[in-house]
Amino acid sequence: MATICFINQKGGCGKSSTCFHLAGAFAQQGLRVLLVDADPQGSLSQGFFGSQRVENLPLVETVAAAFDESSSWCDATSAVRPTAWPAISLLPGNQHLAQFNVPSPERLGMEQFALREFLQPLSGFDLTLIDCPPNLYRCSWSALLAADYVVIPVPPEDFGAQGLRVVHQAIEQAELLHPSLQLLGHLVTRLDRRLIVHRTYERRLRQIYDDTVLATAIPEASAFKVSLACRQPVGLYSPRATAARLTRDLSREILDRITVRIGEAATA
Ligand SMILES: Nc1ncnc2c1ncn2[C@@H]1O[C@H](COP(=O)(O)OP(=O)(O)OP(=O)(O)O)[C@@H](O)[C@H]1O
Ligand SMILES: [Mg+2]
Repeated sequence: MATICFINQKGGCGKSSTCFHLAGAFAQQGLRVLLVDADPQGSLSQGFFGSQRVENLPLVETVAAAFDESSSWCDATSAVRPTAWPAISLLPGNQHLAQFNVPSPERLGMEQFALREFLQPLSGFDLTLIDCPPNLYRCSWSALLAADYVVIPVPPEDFGAQGLRVVHQAIEQAELLHPSLQLLGHLVTRLDRRLIVHRTYERRLRQIYDDTVLATAIPEASAFKVSLACRQPVGLYSPRATAARLTRDLSREILDRITVRIGEAATA
């Protein structure tokens, strides 16, 4: 089982969308996927269950139970719920998480590992994808400490290099506490190749970060929005769409990278 968190403090860069659609692609390859919605906005959960149902979930039926001392009796197994696809399960997140998403989480001592410990008893999944909020507070920090790998979705308009630098710093800090954490890659998202500015940004990103940038880039495409509105990952909703093909390509590239990393670790 490998756990990947999707992190960037930039809002709207496609973190939730990538988790949602990738889950479908992994499921189509026969993998059992657990999605963890570590964002108080609950976008990923709403993608599967709609906003009202997600907002009505009590704290103990969400990932917030990981952080809530008075819910220490609660185990993750009971909070994980099935989706319409047998291979995809979801540990939902909603507004209950907001109270725990405090800044400066590195001052919290062992509580920093609360999410990691909460997820530990879960078994029967090949991959866990953790969706993070658009900040580097406690939820994202806990996700880093719970993950084996990090993917940074990067929209090709994020010219504030400072933004990425802060994300890299957070990963480096997390590695001090959790040395096996690895950057799996930067993922170019929401790319519109018709725009020179997007193509230029993508080229620069690849020059600067070299092969840490995943070869597959996710385009801006209405198929992602339409299938999300129909609560279905794009590969399951319209498998022939370019968006679906590229999501499958991305899922394979991620699996290949994980296989290489595992091989490197075994021979080290
Ligand atoms: N590749 C894409 N093509 C078209 N629309 C997209 C794409 N990626 C994301 N979107 C849309 O853009 C919006 C923001 O995407 P998403 O919620 O995935 O971003 P996010 O990084 O999770 O945002 P936040 O930081 O608020 O959590 C959503 O409406 C989503 O459907
Ligand atoms: Mg999101």
